[in-house]
Amino acid sequence: MENTSLINKIIMVTGATSGIGKVTADVLMGMGATVILVGRNSQKLTGLVAELKQKHETNQRVDSMLADLSSLSQIKALADTFHERYDHLDVLVNNAGGMFMQRQESPDGIELTFALNHLNYFYLTNLLLDSLKNSPSARIVNVASKAHFGASLDFEDLQLKKGYSGFKAYGRSKLANILFTKELARRLNGTSVTVNALHPGFVATNFGKGNNGWFYKLIMPLFTLAAISPEEGAETSIYLASSPEVEGKSGLYFEQKKAVTPSPQAQNMETAAHLWNVSAEMVNL
Ligand SMILES: NC(=O)c1ccc[n+]([C@@H]2O[C@H](COP(=O)([O-])OP(=O)(O)OC[C@H]3O[C@@H](n4cnc5c(N)ncnc54)[C@H](OP(=O)(O)O)[C@@H]3O)[C@@H](O)[C@H]2O)c1
Repeated sequence: MENTSLINKIIMVTGATSGIGKVTADVLMGMGATVILVGRNSQKLTGLVAELKQKHETNQRVDSMLADLSSLSQIKALADTFHERYDHLDVLVNNAGGMFMQRQESPDGIELTFALNHLNYFYLTNLLLDSLKNSPSARIVNVASKAHFGASLDFEDLQLKKGYSGFKAYGRSKLANILFTKELARRLNGTSVTVNALHPGFVATNFGKGNNGWFYKLIMPLFTLAAISPEEGAETSIYLASSPEVEGKSGLYFEQKKAVTPSPQAQNMETAAHLWNVSAEMVNL
């Protein structure tokens, strides 16, 4: 994999300013790609562009785009900016995400976990599909999680207005990532675009650090002792974005660079189709 050349490939990584996304962008740039860093914090983005340019002397092709990916209008503006600057996209890594112990709402009044972790992947991908189809061979990589095991979607209360818990909302959103991957793969069958999802492992990042409360203050630091590094956590994202081994593979769920079976709920194509329709309505696609 290390020898794979990505020169001439244009790759967008969301959530590139921290953790798994930052390593993913760094390694893909090291392989020669033009990397577009998407983040919500302009200072972090500027700093990261400078850091990566300094590190990768022979590849200065790094661009950045600012967007709060929980906001539908900012996702649309991001796609517009991309279209102004580029005529095609080779790889989209949907990686930005979070978990919120208290129920919050996005700028559009949508439960924040669902908006950021699912609708962001769904809407951004759909807005960039034309550019992905302009590539001779494009890939979409959706960072999901093993946390989807045990989750199921309640279409009567997708936004968890009743009985909210951060873990429940997160598990559902990551289930939604895999269902979206499966339905999108079905829709893209016969095109030059593939889409796969992955679990990165339990990774020591900034994930969830914005939360207050006993779990994050007391328990999380203990769990973190058992976590893998962001470098290890980014390996499957990088593999799916770059390896010739996954050429043509689509609709799969990976862990440690191997296709594995997700939960039964994540394989239900009726739920996947229903989620697609509901999501399309919510983002006004
Ligand atoms: N860490 C794990 O153990 C683990 C396990 C399974 C799955 N995952 C998944 O891995 C992905 C990456 O998480 P991570 O562990 O690398 O966490 P992280 O270090 O917190 O990174 C999350 C990234 O998403 C960005 N982000 C958060 N909210 C955003 C918003 N509203 N708009 C735009 N960008 C936003 C963050 O920006 P800032 O830098 O500005 O905060 C950051 O760049 C997530 O999808 C997560 O669900 C993580």
